[in-house]
Amino acid sequence: MLNHAREIVARVGFNPYRVAFDDQNLIDLASNNYLGLARRAEVREAAAHALREYGVSFCGTPVASGHSLLARETARRLAAFCGLEAALLFPSCYQANSGVFAMLSGPDDLIVIDRGAHASLIAGVRAAGAKIRPFAHNSAEHLETVLQRAAGYRKIFIVTESVFSTEGTIAPLPDILALAERFAAIPVIDDSHGIGVLGARGRGVLEHFHIERFRGIYTASLGKALAGMGGMIAGEAATMEELEYLCPSLIYSTALTPPVLGGIGGALDVIDREFAELGPRLWRYKDILATALGEKRQGGGAPINAVACGETEAAIRLTARLHQEGILSTPFIEPSVPKNACVVRLIAGAGLREEEVTRAAECLRTCI
Ligand SMILES: Cc1ncc(COP(=O)(O)O)c(C=O)c1O
Repeated sequence: MLNHAREIVARVGFNPYRVAFDDQNLIDLASNNYLGLARRAEVREAAAHALREYGVSFCGTPVASGHSLLARETARRLAAFCGLEAALLFPSCYQANSGVFAMLSGPDDLIVIDRGAHASLIAGVRAAGAKIRPFAHNSAEHLETVLQRAAGYRKIFIVTESVFSTEGTIAPLPDILALAERFAAIPVIDDSHGIGVLGARGRGVLEHFHIERFRGIYTASLGKALAGMGGMIAGEAATMEELEYLCPSLIYSTALTPPVLGGIGGALDVIDREFAELGPRLWRYKDILATALGEKRQGGGAPINAVACGETEAAIRLTARLHQEGILSTPFIEPSVPKNACVVRLIAGAGLREEEVTRAAECLRTCI
């Protein structure tokens, strides 16, 4: 937390980053538990089964004792789920994003990245040593201008999130992919907030936009709708084979644990079976909150509602007020968002009861 935020937290007398969720009976509008799978009996049982079978940890990196049939099968299922050829599993999507660019690109390359991209993508892009050019947030027009000016590079990468995590806007992916094709660039899409959420079967942004032959790099967190932890990088099998023994953040870090892998398998099963019910509920809950927020709502089409707050203090105060009302929310302050563009983010996952969402909506009407 920046110093000025510390001062505000002290003044308001509430630290939103220190609320122990398991200590209170709060309505959870803060977690990324989009489908409510983190507490589902089937997912717990799948995690517990893997724990009983294989133990608590593989106690090794994925190229040593962490290379298990369970991990291989989970990676295969995840790739197939997204409609891609192969996937690699990382301890987190932060590690996937922050490690992958240095393996893909070098000083002769150009990386064009959405200005609002996640910190992990920015860290990865900076570590690559390539030339970096930001493009205006979600603007295919500006991206085109940047690409038109790019000449003499060995490779060009276009980097974006699919769903922007602080506000829920969805990137104009068909336009971005058309530009990638036209300028022979490689798209890199972080679908952390799209996987398990977007698309008719919850398979993410590629399904949402009916993209069938994605020829780029796809990354996603497994700690959001999929209710586990870890990250994936997926794409063409040949690229994944190359990356498998290259990425330091993969080969020098302990592999995902059996219960995590088992839980992810269980989550995929539930999504396959029940997305037709869970998906629409998630969107309905989003609409209930969006209606309550009215003009105060900022952002886009994904099931994330952001309340525009302006300054840091307003965001912290709103979070504190909601907490008093029994609602857990997330303030996004600088540097996660630009200065004076703070928001409080609300995600009403499909695991909530409708009356909880309605009560949260009533509170929002009086608190904002
Ligand atoms: C868009 C995006 N990418 C990557 C990450 C990092 O994911 P993980 O928690 O798996 O490291 C996050 C999580 O906050 C995210 O929102």
